[in-house]
Amino acid sequence: MTRTGSIRSVCGGALEDTVSLTPISGHSPSHKITTSTLREKKLLREPITCLTAYDYATARLVDEAGIDIALVGDSLAMTMLGYENTLSVTVDEMLHHVKAVRRGVKDALLIADMPYGSYQADPNEAIHNAARFVKEGGAEAVKIEGGEKRADVIRRVIDAEIPVAGHIGLTPQSVNVMGGYKVQGKSLNAIEQLMRDAIALDRAGVACIYLEGIPREVAAMITAEVDTPTIGIGAGPDCDGQVLVFHDLVNLTFGHAAKFVRRYGDAAALITQSVLAFKADVVSHQFPSDAESYHLSKETQAALETVLHRKHAMQR
Ligand code: KIV
Repeated sequence: MTRTGSIRSVCGGALEDTVSLTPISGHSPSHKITTSTLREKKLLREPITCLTAYDYATARLVDEAGIDIALVGDSLAMTMLGYENTLSVTVDEMLHHVKAVRRGVKDALLIADMPYGSYQADPNEAIHNAARFVKEGGAEAVKIEGGEKRADVIRRVIDAEIPVAGHIGLTPQSVNVMGGYKVQGKSLNAIEQLMRDAIALDRAGVACIYLEGIPREVAAMITAEVDTPTIGIGAGPDCDGQVLVFHDLVNLTFGHAAKFVRRYGDAAALITQSVLAFKADVVSHQFPSDAESYHLSKETQAALETVLHRKHAMQR
């Protein structure tokens, strides 16, 4: 079954309502995940899968595994660029990665994170920056952190024909205001605020809402309350979908993993093993072998030997 097979059987043919067959991203539209697919999945209670991708290689791996959303998260500030937090990454730095991911993604929905400072000051600047992610980067949606207080700017960006993903709960761009990366929505007041945030985003028409670092019970309430698909990270199993940071998934983050992270592989061990084996082979003259070397043809080698022989004879 194709990745949209079950959706197609319930909602009518995927191509039935498609008025133009001009392919999106230059390939068959039948496997392409769009913002509509996310809503259909919520209705059908089919879990949505999302992973971050930051470059061509991770984009290819994520896309070819059939993950629904490739998110170029601003977490790349830490995972790819080694910054301490997400606050210093710029639009241009993000764009560099979005373009690389675009080249590797075919079917997945490509969402780009709007970095800190690119949407807070002025809605026109927010639209300008969001449009850069679409025009220059090839993103199909942008993600903006914040709930009720970001609803106006989010509406403006959506009005400019750019789908927006919301992100509430533990919003890493607010780390200094939150006083650290702390689980949010633990008091009754905080739960009420989170509900208001989710409803404001739902009404603004966002494509999905990322719920980060909140109690399972609160995420379940929000997911039941809003029509918009929710995608959780550290928000329990009752969200409409789940996201993990790619580097957390494969142990490339070099530090303590949060409680919600499940390591599905150990790329750090695999890479370290390969690097150490390469080093040992070079130092002990085991690499490269003769079989890994290029050779002259017999005729050229014979001719070369004749030339060298004559040269030595003249020097004597
Ligand atoms: O930047 C990121 O990776 C994110 C996800 C964790 C949702 O925002």
